[in-house]
Amino acid sequence: MAFSQRFLEEVKDRNDIVDLVSKYVPLKRAGSNMSGLCPFHNEKTPSFTVFPKTRSYYCFGCGAGGDAVSFIMAIEGLQYPEAVEYLANRAGMQVEREEGAFRRDDVRRDRVIEATTEAARFFHAYLVSEAGRPAVEYLEKRGMTKLTMRRFGIGCAPDSWDALATHLTAKGFTEKELSAAFLCRPGRNGRLYDVFRNRVTFPLIDINGAVIGFSARRLNEGDERKYVNTSDTPAFKKSRFVFGMNMAKGFGDDSLIMCEGCMDAVALHQAGFGNAVATLGTAITGEQARLIARHAKLVYLSYDSDGAGKNATLKGIRLLEDVGVACKILNLGDVKDPDEYIKKYGADAFRRVLKDAGGQIDYRLGEIAAEFNMSVPEERLRAFDRMCEYAAGRQGRAEREVCASRIASLTGLSFAAAIEGVNRKALLSEKKARKQYEGKELQDSLGYGDRVNRDRVKLPAAVMIEEKILGILLVRPELYRDVKLDGESFVTDFSRRVFELYREDFEAGREPVLSKGGALTGEELSRVTGMQAARLSVSDNSLATLEAFIKSLNREKLKSDYDRDVAERGAAALEEYINKLKENGKKTED
Ligand code: UTP
Ligand code: MN
Repeated sequence: MAFSQRFLEEVKDRNDIVDLVSKYVPLKRAGSNMSGLCPFHNEKTPSFTVFPKTRSYYCFGCGAGGDAVSFIMAIEGLQYPEAVEYLANRAGMQVEREEGAFRRDDVRRDRVIEATTEAARFFHAYLVSEAGRPAVEYLEKRGMTKLTMRRFGIGCAPDSWDALATHLTAKGFTEKELSAAFLCRPGRNGRLYDVFRNRVTFPLIDINGAVIGFSARRLNEGDERKYVNTSDTPAFKKSRFVFGMNMAKGFGDDSLIMCEGCMDAVALHQAGFGNAVATLGTAITGEQARLIARHAKLVYLSYDSDGAGKNATLKGIRLLEDVGVACKILNLGDVKDPDEYIKKYGADAFRRVLKDAGGQIDYRLGEIAAEFNMSVPEERLRAFDRMCEYAAGRQGRAEREVCASRIASLTGLSFAAAIEGVNRKALLSEKKARKQYEGKELQDSLGYGDRVNRDRVKLPAAVMIEEKILGILLVRPELYRDVKLDGESFVTDFSRRVFELYREDFEAGREPVLSKGGALTGEELSRVTGMQAARLSVSDNSLATLEAFIKSLNREKLKSDYDRDVAERGAAALEEYINKLKENGKKTED
């Protein structure tokens, strides 16, 4: 079956590649990547590398590579659709075809929005009615004012099986529409029942002001789920939704404060931080990062300080950095979340937290320092080593020097020792990666020839340049708009095909995904990942470098066009010659 591109992106967003691969392969940090022993061939030293930045893996030894989907296909022996389903299930997503009696695609988006908007009215009216008094008291106890409840359209879902279903059915909405909107569900007896019951409801409003879903908190602490959120509907995609963005974008600030829950975002708004937004629990996705990049230059990350929150922070830093948004990380001490912080210490204290927030370098180095007992010399050296490894993965000399000076002050070693440590690590990993990659290239061009790009033998220089260009584009998609390239720029058919696949996604405003079903074979996908891997292991992927490669490619293109021309005209000339010979023969026969 065909999956929608959105669905595929979400599947990949929700299956962190490092997390996924480590279930099968023990991984160790190597600079900004992870490496381990390749599960696809026998080896003693690790050449299998996972690249969090591009959500891909590549083995420098055997050339196997790809993304989460191809990894699961290979390691679990699954076909493409099965692998996608496997990953969807793993992430707790509903596979679209298992939706049951109702095909959601049949219901129009605007009907879903109308039903959800009417539900929000119904819940809010219930909250401010006599029956909603306990809910109002609950919210007031948590510090929320009536004005805030009104501004955010907060409501209360009655403690009833079908209050909303009855209301909306009377308003003319069909069962199918209410199911598709994730407001009601058909029960065993065929009657509709409400999804949100006995809960405080936060309407989820998109950037254009449309009500597209709810996040609903339990009122009864005995209920199993603390929050019930709208699942994906024709109007709502969790992976591309950011709570509070509709208000934050007009706050007149190019920074955002990013929290986990809508309770946190609302509390911050009430305290005067109108740039607060929330991702509804799960870690930030690539799509959310791109939405954020359109409205902010700086994001203050304020996820919980537990393990899940830390992972979410790391993922957030990575995804935001990829789209050019700077990050600062809030330190709330031992307080759980912004909502509690505001309640305990007030808005002024929170303002100081914002002011004191460090960037990701401080955060990452600080996290490493916290893992070791820095008063024990051996541990201090191990921390130093890990810090240098992190710093070596940063791009550019200035960043490395900044890191080195932080490392020096955290470990009490000299700056000279720190910069030497960082540079040595950088050199080491670059050398290693290059050697592995070059070994692989040589093997490709000698051994059995190249089954993936058959033009390699004829046009080795062009193929090499093309792979560098595609590699940079894959590592830094943001450069795509800055260069002049089209399918015709490429010399070899394979590279042109890869570029067209890449461009298709890009022009549609999607993150380039190459493993859509069947577009590339496993071997071809491995090759493409190899191009990416090669660029991830060198530090210079600048626009200038890309442009220089494109210039060389243009020259190669001219050359190959000329060669072909000569070849074609050569054939024509040969034909002319033969014709001439024939004519001459006729004459002599006469
Ligand atoms: P928390 O358990 O930290 O909740 O989950 P919270 O935001 O502090 O909520 P309050 O203050 O007790 O009301 C963090 C976020 O994870 C999501 C929600 O978006 C929540 O805000 N979550 C949590 C769920 O989606 N479902 C759950 O059952 C629990
Ligand atoms: Mn909370």
